[in-house]
Amino acid sequence: MMHKPQIIDSFGRAHTYLRISLTDRCNLRCFYCMPEEGVELTERSQIMTLEEIVAISREFVELGIDTIRLTGGEPLLRKNFAFLIKELSDLGVTLKLTTNGILLDKYFDLFEETGLRKINVSLDTLDKVKAAFISKRDYFDRIMENVREGIRRGFEIKLNVVLIKGTNDQEILDFIRLTKHQNLNVKFIEFMPFKGNQWDWSKGVSEQEILKTVTNEWTNLQTLQSSVHSTSKNFQVSGFQGSFGIISTITHPFCEGCNRIRLTADGKMKNCLFATQEFDLLGHFRTGRKLTPLIHENIQSKKFSRDGMNLEMDAKHYELNRSMISIGG
Ligand code: 5AD
Ligand code: SF4
Repeated sequence: MMHKPQIIDSFGRAHTYLRISLTDRCNLRCFYCMPEEGVELTERSQIMTLEEIVAISREFVELGIDTIRLTGGEPLLRKNFAFLIKELSDLGVTLKLTTNGILLDKYFDLFEETGLRKINVSLDTLDKVKAAFISKRDYFDRIMENVREGIRRGFEIKLNVVLIKGTNDQEILDFIRLTKHQNLNVKFIEFMPFKGNQWDWSKGVSEQEILKTVTNEWTNLQTLQSSVHSTSKNFQVSGFQGSFGIISTITHPFCEGCNRIRLTADGKMKNCLFATQEFDLLGHFRTGRKLTPLIHENIQSKKFSRDGMNLEMDAKHYELNRSMISIGG
């Protein structure tokens, strides 16, 4: 059953999209995501159980959430993941997944059964050696094979590519070439600041630089229509089967259509990717109370853009946020 959107902020934005981090563990160690010193893993008793995730999701669905994306850490590391997917698909929402792709082969059948069609795979390079450098682990072949299998089976696969100068910015065209004969969407993401990730915009690659590289190679670029809620501008090289997009959080934030809410694995609600303030939904839930008043209170305090962060003047705002590994993007 569809519910009327009720989670509306002071700018009139209706929130219909919930992103849930299932775990803060990961089988990769990408340097831009996980702080070098590692992160303290949250104690198990503080992590939402699968039953709690389902119950909390149900309350969100009653408030108009129609799409749930599962993230991590690496969500496929969560035990009994199949149980969770079945329960969530019974809620009637569109389910999506963001994964590093390593374990995907174990779940394609389940996804076909439950109608999960949209899978974002984080893959920053097409070079095996570089992949091992970026992620400090050697799973490249497995990830590529799973991506190919996903495409073969007709899933809507997107590749998330975080561009870092001197690391993978030479690969922009190679990634787009993958879209020539495959129904694949490549998302280039501007490097964003989080706690402990040694962010420095001089390492970032801007939307403008990406487009310059692309238009130098292909003059026949088409701009695709995107939804108002989209975080990316999307393009297609004429004649190519797939497409690519740019997520320009740093140089052109796209907050006016924001419809997202985040829930961390330990049950904290964040009204923005960069929110430093969190509301403890899980704690509340465990005392048997309805979450709705807290959800409304949290969304009322949502700022218009990037939690009010000004990257020039307020550079340490993001040190008060979490690291990406425990937000899930
Ligand atoms: N900047 C931009 N994107 C990031 N991601 C993780 N850390 C960062 C960062 N610092 C991406 C991951 C994943 C998505 C959820 O967010 O690569 O694909
Ligand atoms: Fe929404 Fe915050 Fe992302 Fe802007 S930065 S789109 S407000 S989550």
